[in-house]
Amino acid sequence: MTASERRLPASAYTDSERFEQERELVRRAPQLVGYRSELPTPGSYCTKTVMDVPVLMTRGSDGQVRAFQNVCAHRAAPVAQGCGEAERFVCPFHAWTYDNLGRYVGGPGREGFPTALTPGAGLTELPAAEYAGFLWVGLRPQDGPLDIASHLGELGPELASWNVGSWSSVGEKSLDAPINWKLALDTFAENYHFATVHRDTFGSFARSNCALFDAYGPHHRLVFPLRNITDIADQPEDSWQPLNHLVVIYALFPNIVLSCTVANGEVFRVYPGQTPGQSITYHQNATPMDLTDEAMRIGAGEIFDYAHISVRDEDYKLAAEIQRALASGARPELVFGRNEPGLHHRHGAVDAALGAAPGV
Ligand SMILES: [Fe+2]
Repeated sequence: MTASERRLPASAYTDSERFEQERELVRRAPQLVGYRSELPTPGSYCTKTVMDVPVLMTRGSDGQVRAFQNVCAHRAAPVAQGCGEAERFVCPFHAWTYDNLGRYVGGPGREGFPTALTPGAGLTELPAAEYAGFLWVGLRPQDGPLDIASHLGELGPELASWNVGSWSSVGEKSLDAPINWKLALDTFAENYHFATVHRDTFGSFARSNCALFDAYGPHHRLVFPLRNITDIADQPEDSWQPLNHLVVIYALFPNIVLSCTVANGEVFRVYPGQTPGQSITYHQNATPMDLTDEAMRIGAGEIFDYAHISVRDEDYKLAAEIQRALASGARPELVFGRNEPGLHHRHGAVDAALGAAPGV
């Protein structure tokens, strides 16, 4: 419980000027974009979309992870699709070809480009890192190397300890939603709503309105107990396996949520859209199961679908109605309870980063 309630103006979710500042805040932040296991070997690659920017990530023969704008230096077409293994990336438009260090290595009609194709021509490289088992990029080419260790602080070793980044990626789904990016993130910042919004899904196996909260600078951690946690009350404490009875949610400032259990490591990458009332969420899941086994692969896919559909049809569906109500001006503010510390903390951290007047 926090010491008191907190009131937030509805305009925090609807104001255009504020929204532009927040977009810039997200654009400048180091971005967790996936699992280390998405680039398993030298020569592997994957593609991502981050704040609308197409990104190509590669692992070179030196084992290094690199990131590039997935944008051809000629006419801006994407040079790679999906993920896999490739030494060369051939633009589908005019066959300009790049290696996995982003360098232009050939293509037809070279005499047409006496200045564009001087030595050094290639894809625009972005800052990239592999840290705590996850892949990270920076969207601004001019920024220096990413210092994710400083960004995460003491959460870094804890995230690494889950080993989620080495689990098998089950896939990536997107939700283009008519909700402010912070309203999307708010749905992951309390379990007060489990018994109502998720009565027939998460609420059937996770407790409602009972959580452990810890802040780590601008990041936070919420620990949600499962209903089965009461089963161990009468058993000796040294026999407890706490992680079998918990969901641990990490909110990584400003726009990433990790939801970890012993069986699933979900990533939600939530990006501001083009207007205050739009956002896009990329949802990924990783599993410790062996996905070379077909039955395991089908099972993991079903678990991912279940989680995704619950977020889409329960949280985000309701959030869209909330966004419409906020934009209507019907009520000037909303209130976060003492039992919703994650909401207090997230909005406080965004306010602090923007130097904005805090909600009271
Ligand atoms: Fe929810």
